Amino acid sequence: MHAAPGAGPRAVALAGAGALGGALAVLAVPVAVLGPLVRAAMYLAVLLAAGAALYLVFVDDGGGDLTEQDRSRSLVAWGAVAGMALVLADLVVRAAAIGGGTLASGIDRPNVEMVLGGRAHVTAVVASIGLMLLVWAVLQRWGMPAAPVAAVLGVVLAVGAFSFVGHSATRGPRFLTVSADILHVATAALWVGGLACLAVAVRARRMAGRLEEAARQVGRFSQVMTVGLTALVVAGLALAAFILDSPGQLLTTAYGRVLLVKIALVSGIVTVAGYNHRRLVPAVHDGDQHSWTRLSRTIRAELVGLVSVVTVTATLVDMNPGA
Ligand code: HEM
Repeated sequence: MHAAPGAGPRAVALAGAGALGGALAVLAVPVAVLGPLVRAAMYLAVLLAAGAALYLVFVDDGGGDLTEQDRSRSLVAWGAVAGMALVLADLVVRAAAIGGGTLASGIDRPNVEMVLGGRAHVTAVVASIGLMLLVWAVLQRWGMPAAPVAAVLGVVLAVGAFSFVGHSATRGPRFLTVSADILHVATAALWVGGLACLAVAVRARRMAGRLEEAARQVGRFSQVMTVGLTALVVAGLALAAFILDSPGQLLTTAYGRVLLVKIALVSGIVTVAGYNHRRLVPAVHDGDQHSWTRLSRTIRAELVGLVSVVTVTATLVDMNPGA
């Protein structure tokens, strides 16, 4: 059987119309659904970029081969580029939320002007400057003395940008809530981005048969995260104390119940992380092959758990704490 003349261009035209239809269909998705998804993706991208940069500056022993170094730097660069795009997308979603529910109203001038009149655009600008600094540091391959300094400044700006909006911007003594917010997001970033880099390092070093160096790197990250995790939880509980009027609101409000879900998820991941720290890290140091396989699996499980925590957080920051 022969194709009818003109079927090719018509198929291309139909496919193009389908793609355009798909793009337009996104404009009709309710913002109540799209908003938390965009925000979760934005948090994840920024946490990945900032955390991977912190790992490279403070935790990495510099012993990785070129492939490992390139992959870790790519996590910073792609996280930062995605973060910039998603920070802008978050502004459109915020404008759409003002304009009545679908994404299409997010590009209407009055709605955009209202968002620009608030502080959300300050977050977008400050976070983008921070993320650009991270991309610059990666492009220098950490080779210039200024690159690590630029990376740390980039992390401070990228994670600090979130303290301009949200509940921490309007509750409690400003200095304390902003400090708790920056500490919370920076340590959350170290966990997410650091774990992703550690997964890269473990895979590359195991494949090259450099098990001792892989074990050393696992040990370094585990030690840093013992302090980082304590700071993360203390800062998170401090934020909760500033935002809620009383502990009873944990059970009587929807905000409190979602926060309890988040705390339960974190407790599960901390249990896995504790098992890694106490059992698997010493075992891989002793050269136990089975523990390497288990460690790689639990690192992946931790990462999946952290993605779900960030998704819950994206819903939490949009809720009314009193309701
Ligand atoms: C027991 C542990 C934790 C507690 C009690 C906690 C609590 C909180 C609270 C109360 C907020 C403020 C939410 C709002 O603005 O309404 C917050 C924000 C946030 N949390 Fe957590 N959290 C914990 C762990 C984590 C973890 C493990 C991560 C990710 C790895 C994380 C990531 C974030 C992020 C990204 C924000 C948004 C900050 C912002 O937009 O200013 N948290 N957390």
